[in-house]
Amino acid sequence: MEGHTGLGMIGYQYDISGLTEADMDPFFEGWPQKPKPAKRIEILKNSDYVIIALDGSNMIGFTNAITDKTLSAYIPLLEVVPQYRKQGIGTELVKRMLEQLKDYYMIDLCCDEQLEGFYKKLGMSKVTGMIKRNYNRI
Ligand SMILES: CC(C)(COP(=O)(O)OP(=O)(O)OC[C@H]1O[C@@H](n2cnc3c(N)ncnc32)[C@H](O)[C@@H]1OP(=O)(O)O)[C@@H](O)C(=O)NCCC(=O)NCCS
Repeated sequence: MEGHTGLGMIGYQYDISGLTEADMDPFFEGWPQKPKPAKRIEILKNSDYVIIALDGSNMIGFTNAITDKTLSAYIPLLEVVPQYRKQGIGTELVKRMLEQLKDYYMIDLCCDEQLEGFYKKLGMSKVTGMIKRNYNRI
């Protein structure tokens, strides 16, 4: 992958140009069932916004957002590969995504309780969320 911008070693790219199925291999860590490689690319291709973190040409993190293009935005996915965690890359991905989404009234996401502090630092608030999963549809 090429064409990213950013400071230092880590670059941030705002589209999926150059992305291959192999680039998505390390992601969806810990999911009981992971989307198949081709589907992973589809997810990003069909998102309204995507930000990819790169070390050189290596994809090391990403986040995406879907919207109604009017009022509401949702951030379904955020992941940084384990070797690159705790270096501020996750924070940077969310900051950049929130900047992209700053004109939306509502920007929502769901997370585990342990990440409450991470998202609070980024200006987000805790609410009660409700979810449904169709485990046969991944
Ligand atoms: C969550 C995640 C994206 C954070 O990425 P990162 O690059 O490590 O994030 P940063 O380095 O910017 O910030 C890490 C901060 O979050 C906290 N944090 C990250 N993961 C945490 C966890 N699982 N439990 C508790 N705190 C966590 C760290 O303690 C750190 O806090 P600090 O700023 O006080 O040091 C990364 O841990 C990850 O990919 N996790 C697996 C996927 C996931 O949970 N995604 C979130 C979906 S909502």
